[in-house]
Amino acid sequence: MKSVSSAPAKIILFGEHFVVHGTKAILAAIDKRVTVTSTVTENKTIKINSELGTIEVPIFTSYKKTKSEFRPFVYLANKVISIPNCNINGLEITIDSDIPIGVGLGSSSACCVAAASSLFGLFKAWSYSGILTMSIEAEKTIFPNTSGADCTVCTYGGMIEHPSIEKIDNTFDLNLVIANSMIPHNTKKSVKKVSKFKENDEKRFSELCDLETKLIDEVVLAMKNNDATVLGLKMSENQKYLEEIQVSNDTIRDMISSLKEISLGSKITGAGDGGCIIALINDENMDKVPALLGKDKECFSAKLDTKGVVWKIEK
Ligand code: MEV
Repeated sequence: MKSVSSAPAKIILFGEHFVVHGTKAILAAIDKRVTVTSTVTENKTIKINSELGTIEVPIFTSYKKTKSEFRPFVYLANKVISIPNCNINGLEITIDSDIPIGVGLGSSSACCVAAASSLFGLFKAWSYSGILTMSIEAEKTIFPNTSGADCTVCTYGGMIEHPSIEKIDNTFDLNLVIANSMIPHNTKKSVKKVSKFKENDEKRFSELCDLETKLIDEVVLAMKNNDATVLGLKMSENQKYLEEIQVSNDTIRDMISSLKEISLGSKITGAGDGGCIIALINDENMDKVPALLGKDKECFSAKLDTKGVVWKIEK
């Protein structure tokens, strides 16, 4: 028996970094997925296969003794094996992903959500809230300060406000382009850098948090009014706050400026310091994006995923 689960990638439309310090954020799940397949084995080991390699460790090995990319899976597998009367000797977990790693599209959160769902699904112990709690615990094995926003949207799908999990209905088509700077980033480092900024200037940071909260309230209204122009302006305004907390760089600024003529607004999505930007583009200009960004950047248009995490048992 195989327990197979998949979860979507995500973008942060508004509020990254500030959300770690308690403000709201708006996120959306997008149409790229990771699939995790779990099977029970007789080996008293946890075996993990992924594009990053394969490891096999004895059950109950502490996740801290494994390489960071495998920690969430070892943590979750041990949790499952510890369920009273579960009678499992070992587990094999296989990860297949079409989400690029380390570029702000939530690859590690989607992995944690799909793995929690696949592993707890082996016991039919499946609920959205249970998957979310376990996936955030798993993500904390690599990134202790996570706001939990990424795992939340990967679990529920659609476009949501965090932390309320309220769905945001937009009735107009969001022509969002995701463009990859091709500079890998480290979310943990960027979050630490922002905490340093906050330590050095508590007053300004608190003002920026208030500005972000106000901006998100205005965005929700703009969505209700189908006002893409205001939405674009708010994206550019949010980018200014991200510039101020120093998670942008020259490459990102160049990308944003090269799309200026054809976009209603653009900004970093995710931790920044590289990774991806998102840009709101008018329909008639969509095909101009690749040439403006240049050959060394990747870009694609983001389609909203409404399903969130999905799970099935295969014989
Ligand atoms: C990373 O995708 C988003 C951050 O806000 C971190 C977090 O929310 O945990 C930078």
